[in-house]
Amino acid sequence: MTTNNWNTSLYDGKHNFVTKYGEDLLGLLNAQSGERILDIGCGTGHLTAKIAECGATVIGLDNSAQMLDKARETYPHMTWVNASASDFAFGQPFDAIYSNATLHWVSDAEGAVRCMTAALKLGGRLVVELGGKRNIGTIADVVRQAIKVQTGRDSQHGWFFPSIGEYAPLLEKHGFEVNAAWLFDRPTKLEGEDGMANWIRMFSGGLLRGLPADAIEPIIAASVAQLRATQYVDGVWYADYRRLRVVGRRAT
Ligand code: BEZ
Repeated sequence: MTTNNWNTSLYDGKHNFVTKYGEDLLGLLNAQSGERILDIGCGTGHLTAKIAECGATVIGLDNSAQMLDKARETYPHMTWVNASASDFAFGQPFDAIYSNATLHWVSDAEGAVRCMTAALKLGGRLVVELGGKRNIGTIADVVRQAIKVQTGRDSQHGWFFPSIGEYAPLLEKHGFEVNAAWLFDRPTKLEGEDGMANWIRMFSGGLLRGLPADAIEPIIAASVAQLRATQYVDGVWYADYRRLRVVGRRAT
């Protein structure tokens, strides 16, 4: 799994759109009282707790111990599990799996699908959203180019941003039927004049990893200067997010 050194205050503060947009998916999940639900990539746990409000038993899973410490502190009565999304197993199967803005961090995408199949009951629901094809394509291209200019190095972002045509067959191969899938642009407002610089600092760990420390800020500054032409509109920064949303069911 691609890792990031998460700053939980930034995640809940300036970048709380991760949680806000995740609420859109809750309608599709349609959690019911008494159900057993797994939230993969629960982060600081706000959405996990929201799902549980209907009376479902919800378990939050995340590979970041820092995120889970925060979740445990805020919601001590709930169950939080520290595990990788591509390497987990539970003794008791779930009625539904929910995942928002996590699966694109998991480099072993097939391992994640295999674990999700094994964790669901037959007929169990899958409701997931991740970065889709060309997600943050403009930002990544510009940062990659700035890295090349500043250091001469080529860099790969390492995220998994599939199209519908790539992800649906992977799900089907591992026993899911895909009931609906959408790939859509979701330009995402970033907070404040430093919004783009903060976003790159928070999320571009994979691209910037291994670069000399003194090269990082010049790369961010050069990227921000170039992105201003397309991503700064009427005084607001936008990240060029594209979402892949999938609703399915374990069929075999
Ligand atoms: C996303 O949610 O699409 C995303 C966030 C950070 C880095 C890459 C993708």
